[in-house]
Amino acid sequence: MRVVSSTILFSFLCSLLLVIFILAYETSAQPISVKYFCDQNNDRGNYKSKSTFQTNLNTLLSTLTNSNTQINYNGFYKLSYGQNTDKVYAIGLCKGDIQPDICHSCLDKARVNLTKLCPNRKEAIGWYDDETCMLRYSDRSIFGRMEIGPAYFVWNLHDAEKANRFNKVVKNLLESLTSRGVASQRKYATATAIGPSNQTIYGLVQCTPDLSGVDCSGCLHESISVIPGCCNNRIGARIVRPSCYLRYETNFEFYDPTVGAAPPPPAPAFTFHH
Ligand SMILES: *[C@@H]1O[C@H](CO)[C@@H](O)[C@H](O)[C@H]1NC(C)=O
Ligand SMILES: *[C@@H]1O[C@H](CO)[C@@H](O)[C@H](O)[C@H]1NC(C)=O
Repeated sequence: MRVVSSTILFSFLCSLLLVIFILAYETSAQPISVKYFCDQNNDRGNYKSKSTFQTNLNTLLSTLTNSNTQINYNGFYKLSYGQNTDKVYAIGLCKGDIQPDICHSCLDKARVNLTKLCPNRKEAIGWYDDETCMLRYSDRSIFGRMEIGPAYFVWNLHDAEKANRFNKVVKNLLESLTSRGVASQRKYATATAIGPSNQTIYGLVQCTPDLSGVDCSGCLHESISVIPGCCNNRIGARIVRPSCYLRYETNFEFYDPTVGAAPPPPAPAFTFHH
């Protein structure tokens, strides 16, 4: 009897250890989050394996994520490579507060992952690690063009108290951020506002810096205008588009406030980071 129970106990402990080991393994091998689109309607078509286009794409993406390319780093890469129909265009952009080494490793993961997720597609776009970085490529010029799709929206499941007033504070915050982001060289701005329940609302906007001010503003206003539809009353939301990124959260500082924010003029009801 005693032998049996100790055997059972032993195997129980072994299974427990195994479970703990598996859990630890799963945690450490946690996959990065990715949201991607492989040119849904396949408007651009496919390239053949081992074609010049594929070679050019691989060369371009390796250059983009090569650490030597980080001279004059500002988290934005815009490169093209090749001739005529084999020419490839790529854009890499990191969220404005991301440090160069993290940006680099994010884009490197994106490069490997996206070309596998969208095999043989001439055009693809992906956002990695909660939009730490965005990578896109195509056989058409994607530089300096305002593109609002493909897009995705993410929202917090909780509703704010005093929702009408909360929504107004969010809208004002995002409008003010848009003006500042558009005017900045990096097309990036962060700020906080105080909500009706004395909660801190954190906001961030960013455009690809190759956009004109008018286009950046147009893209972000498109995003602000969809919030009442997708994300009304929500305490946090993200509107993610190829040309611009917008996010706000309540009591959650989801960016590094010390990075890249210029000292703003004081405005009523807002507290700005600098
Ligand atoms: C791409 O990354 C996602 C998220 O980590 C993962 O689930 C997927 O298996 C990866 N795909 C490839 C082909 O690497
Ligand atoms: C609002 O929140 C701040 C920081 O949490 C706190 O110091 C302050 O007393 C609060 N004010 C009110 C009116 O509740």
